[in-house]
Amino acid sequence: MTAATQFQYKNEVLHAEDTSLLHLAKKFGTPLYVYSLQALKDAWKSYEEGMQGRDVLICYGMKANSNLAILNQFHKMGAGFDIVSGGELARVIAAGGEPSKVVFSGVGKQSWEIRDALEAGVKCFNVESEGELERISRIAYELGKTAPVSLRVNPDVDAKTHPYISTGLKENKFGIDIQHAKDVYLKALKLPNLKITGIDCHIGSQITELAPYKDALKKLIKLIKKLEGLGIKMQHIDLGGGLGIRYTNEQTLAPAQLLDMIFTTLDANNLGHLQLVLEPGRSLVGNAGVLLTRVEYIKSNEAKNFAVVDAAMNDLLRPTLYDAWHGIQTVIKHPESSKQETYDVVGPICESGDWLAKDRSLHIKPGDLLAVMSAGAYAFSMASQYNSRPRAAEVMVRGNKADVIRKRENIQGLFINEQTLD
Ligand code: LLP
Repeated sequence: MTAATQFQYKNEVLHAEDTSLLHLAKKFGTPLYVYSLQALKDAWKSYEEGMQGRDVLICYGMKANSNLAILNQFHKMGAGFDIVSGGELARVIAAGGEPSKVVFSGVGKQSWEIRDALEAGVKCFNVESEGELERISRIAYELGKTAPVSLRVNPDVDAKTHPYISTGLKENKFGIDIQHAKDVYLKALKLPNLKITGIDCHIGSQITELAPYKDALKKLIKLIKKLEGLGIKMQHIDLGGGLGIRYTNEQTLAPAQLLDMIFTTLDANNLGHLQLVLEPGRSLVGNAGVLLTRVEYIKSNEAKNFAVVDAAMNDLLRPTLYDAWHGIQTVIKHPESSKQETYDVVGPICESGDWLAKDRSLHIKPGDLLAVMSAGAYAFSMASQYNSRPRAAEVMVRGNKADVIRKRENIQGLFINEQTLD
């Protein structure tokens, strides 16, 4: 996936589409998440372009960014959703999405969540354990419904990504061991009120190579063949999400490359009739957003220069949690010749881990605006109120128009659900 092409300098000012980020900061304040609708559409199109007229359902991995406006836009483009909680299901419904295009993943589905999903009529449960299978069967029986199930198998492949976001290895908590999956399918056949509809895996996130996907697919195909021999037929195969984006200079894969490899491999194994489900999150939204922040102070000690900004780890946890790299751009472009210093860009939170970027060459002074790039995925959705900081507003840009899609939280809201003892 390419870089953030909808965020460009125009007359030396960084814009989201045709809207100046200076203008947005003035109007809505900072920190501020700014998204480009065109960038969302472009990312969606890059998947569509690879579909080759085949039966593909893209279930947006909404944990990347679950704002209702974003869900609603993807719904209108034709997306289904990959959910991992009852809260996410409620968001899909509130955003006008179709439960019949929802796949329900996650290792810890609670009974109420299973009930809600059955009542809403989701496409399938991606089942991650035998205990879950039994629970789904029992609840479906109680409700007089049939639960569509797909087992999430753990294919034991190395996605070659950060250990915290690698999920397809034996030592991870996710999925059902592929060696054991046949027996669990046989169990699903016997349990009441279940219908086997598919097979699923998700091997990790920010993947930039085709090989791990291919390894996983081959392992799944082998299992599908074995199951066919036992009379268990699949309607769909779900290869999860995980396609990486360019944060800096990563060589990334285009969705069309992934899709092409999948179709070719399925065809070569006479499985071209299966519906393909994918669950991309980051690659649909990551480069469609930036986090706008203002420099509050510049300070230096013997070792370092610091730019203390008004955004922090509560707004963007990725740098401190995964050592992730996000581009930092000044909203006003400075001439190449201007004198730059090396800064750590840090927030106001009382933690040494509160940093957004390290050792960046910048020409800045207090009051300047910075854009933290590639903040469309896993930024707001992982935000917290740590240090009693209200979460920032989110704005969607369309051309030269900008709409607030989530209001800035206010101070009273921080403790509205709290109560002192009497
Ligand atoms: N499907 C399942 C079952 C998942 O667990 C995930 C992500 C996705 C789909 C979407 O993956 P994507 O296409 O976005 O890579 N917070 C981390 C990423 C955690 C991903 C968790 N699962 C980060 O900021 O890098």
